[in-house]
Amino acid sequence: MRWWDIEPVMELELRLFPEDAWSRGMYWSELADARPGGSRHYTVATTADGAVAGYAGLMAVGAESDVQTIAVAEEHQGRGLGALLLGDLIAESARRGCDELLLEVRVDNVRAQRLYERYGFIPVGIRRGYYQPANVDALVMRLDHETTNHTEEDHG
Ligand SMILES: CC(C)(COP(=O)(O)OP(=O)(O)OC[C@H]1O[C@@H](n2cnc3c(N)ncnc32)[C@H](O)[C@@H]1OP(=O)(O)O)[C@@H](O)C(=O)NCCC(=O)NCCS
Repeated sequence: MRWWDIEPVMELELRLFPEDAWSRGMYWSELADARPGGSRHYTVATTADGAVAGYAGLMAVGAESDVQTIAVAEEHQGRGLGALLLGDLIAESARRGCDELLLEVRVDNVRAQRLYERYGFIPVGIRRGYYQPANVDALVMRLDHETTNHTEEDHG
């Protein structure tokens, strides 16, 4: 994701997160930390004609990393794009040597939770009223890279 992607990303952001959309300023700030050596990693998925179909962002600090955001335009959902974007964040988190990848997801967002579970995330807690002003709780989920690596080794 580069600065010129912010406008199309904002269009999707307002549609996909109507209750708690990020602002333009937040994206500018996140991208400022996505330069080489920075703590962020942001990516966009585009259609053949260059339109933004989805986007995702990671924060990695020391051994810890967090999924900052992940979203796919309604008309492109259900075709594996969300899985591709999540796979990109997981790979980047592992490449940076993080031990674990955490995320928060609305307790009522069952679809996203299913995607995360498929990738090995497990629920580890609840953050009450995390999403404001909607006042919706967040489920915290964690992917342990150690466990993932061992599992892959165990299966040869
Ligand atoms: C959550 C979200 C990112 C998932 O994106 P997506 O592109 O639809 O994800 P995928 O296509 O990889 O997987 C979603 C479903 O499509 C199915 N699917 C994947 N590839 C498919 C294909 N080729 N054909 C048909 N279905 C497919 C998956 O099995 C999955 O099914 P499930 O919902 O029954 O588990 C998307 O729904 C979204 O942007 N939601 C709004 C924003 C949001 O909630 N973001 C998460 C905040 S924490």
